[in-house]
Amino acid sequence: MTKPTLILDRMQFFGRLAADYQAMFGVTLESLKGKRVLDCPSGPSSFVAEAFAAGVDAVGVDPLYAHDAHELRKRSHDDIAYTVKTMATYEGAYSDLDLQAYADNKRAALNGFLADYESGLRAGRYINASLLHLPLDDQTFDHTFSAHLLFTYSDPASGGILTNSPFTLQWHMAAVIDLMRVTRGSLHLYPTTTRTNPARRHPFIDEIVARIEAQNARGQHATNSNADNMGVWKCRFEPSTYQRGDAAQNYLNASLVIERQHHRH
Ligand SMILES: C[S@@+](CC[C@H](N)C(=O)[O-])C[C@H]1O[C@@H](n2cnc3c(N)ncnc32)[C@H](O)[C@@H]1O
Repeated sequence: MTKPTLILDRMQFFGRLAADYQAMFGVTLESLKGKRVLDCPSGPSSFVAEAFAAGVDAVGVDPLYAHDAHELRKRSHDDIAYTVKTMATYEGAYSDLDLQAYADNKRAALNGFLADYESGLRAGRYINASLLHLPLDDQTFDHTFSAHLLFTYSDPASGGILTNSPFTLQWHMAAVIDLMRVTRGSLHLYPTTTRTNPARRHPFIDEIVARIEAQNARGQHATNSNADNMGVWKCRFEPSTYQRGDAAQNYLNASLVIERQHHRH
């Protein structure tokens, strides 16, 4: 039996720093310099702002970019307070985390995001859109990063945190396909474990990897893109150093990398 370590009744507009993305995905901004990179969902994360400042051609996508900076600031402050208050009610699960520092980190990310948001919207660095219908061209991004939407906001029965979640296994599969459609290099997904104590691999991951491998064997992926009629999507786990809570919540801590291999004939 595993206990949940967080259950929420709504999606949070809650974001992290570029340093957190580096820990989650095992990449550095330096290694992404000059690359075209997508962050979806980007939320109020400062990853795009910090990456842009470091010379990365970064784009963030989120449905809440329909709103102005004033509205987003208020919403994110409310969501940070609500999430941290709820985490504090899960006795023991977060005893290794300083929740005040955790909230401060999220506010720092929000401030970094807001400082870049209006000029970034005008420059096309922030795009109001959502999965499963990204308004982006096929195979545009060298790397796509997707954190804390897939797996995290699945239903508690599958190990996620969102009650009455619309994000079923079917939705996850379609989301991976939409993200891969716009990616020419690799897609990086985090987390890959459940929000339980102890953590275990999220059950949707095995299904997704199995379906991708079956499609590899057929030599055809379901992105509706002609460019995808050939090629293999290679799946691997990349160890992560991002801390999710106490030790047992960091079991199997890794991102899933799905890399497009172009050399199949
Ligand atoms: C917790 S934030 C994650 C932000 C960031 N990636 C991080 O790890 O800090 C989740 C975001 O998903 C966005 N979202 C909700 N539904 C979505 C969808 N269908 N497609 C893309 N983003 C969505 C929300 O607006 C929210 O900003």
